[in-house]
Amino acid sequence: MTRIAHFSDIHISSPGATIARLWQGKRLLGGMNMLLFRRRELQNTRLPLLLEHLEAQKVDHVIASGDFTTTAIKAEYQEARLALDPLFQAQKITTIPGNHDIYTPREARERRYEQFFGDSHGPSESSTGYPFAKEIDDNIAIIGLNSCVPTGLSGAWGILDDEQLQRLPALLQKHQGRFRILVLHHFLLDRHGYHGLPRRGLRNRDALSAILQKEGCELILHGHEHARYRYEIQGPHGPIPVHNPGPATCVSAARHHPGGYLIYDIQDGQIKGIEGCTLSFPEGHIEEDNNFPSIDPIEGSAL
Ligand SMILES: [Fe+2]
Ligand SMILES: [Fe+2]
Repeated sequence: MTRIAHFSDIHISSPGATIARLWQGKRLLGGMNMLLFRRRELQNTRLPLLLEHLEAQKVDHVIASGDFTTTAIKAEYQEARLALDPLFQAQKITTIPGNHDIYTPREARERRYEQFFGDSHGPSESSTGYPFAKEIDDNIAIIGLNSCVPTGLSGAWGILDDEQLQRLPALLQKHQGRFRILVLHHFLLDRHGYHGLPRRGLRNRDALSAILQKEGCELILHGHEHARYRYEIQGPHGPIPVHNPGPATCVSAARHHPGGYLIYDIQDGQIKGIEGCTLSFPEGHIEEDNNFPSIDPIEGSAL
């Protein structure tokens, strides 16, 4: 049995450092959004509690699917890396970037996300480092994608570049026989079952879906939409489960987006169990909560 935890969207914020950079147009939007709304909902102070709880669960590996920061400034990156560093030092974490981690062209140019978190990736034959594959043990491989590009003021959409789409089929074939976990930041369906285009979804979701319908994988994990929910897409031998654990540090009374994370027990190429670990509201301690709603695509959004 292998135990794998998945969390997403911790959105570390550093208001002082962000205010100093509000003159940069995109950060003006993100910074004001954070200061006015998100700070109350996504709380940095919940992260140590969450990581302490995670450590006690004795998982074999942790997957984090992006949005470590709020506006991708170095202060946020440094704080996120510091908090997660024990998992990196123990080589127990695999990460991919979120759109908030590649917020403006500058972070993309500098490859700031890769500087702080790239040491959690597996090897890649691509010039950009994506897709990469990381074997967790003889039976499980994580395949990481980068769906994030600076989007200017036009939303939070994602796209997979041509090289990733070209290399992905061979990578999935190479690891066939293992339990293949595909990780990307953007959703294929939002919490309402909508594709989220053009502003928040994955613009070439059809191309990714076509690859997965042919090559298959055993589980798809993502974040981006701040809600815990699951759905399925078509694979070659049946449906492929697609899961979003919800934003890890969210404290909200709204049932559709509890904070926390999920733990998978995987054995013999199958998911044997899923545990929901959820931040309670308003106390903020973590409790078991296996409420994990399943959604269906609305008309026009099916894959
Ligand atoms: Fe997010
Ligand atoms: Fe996101």
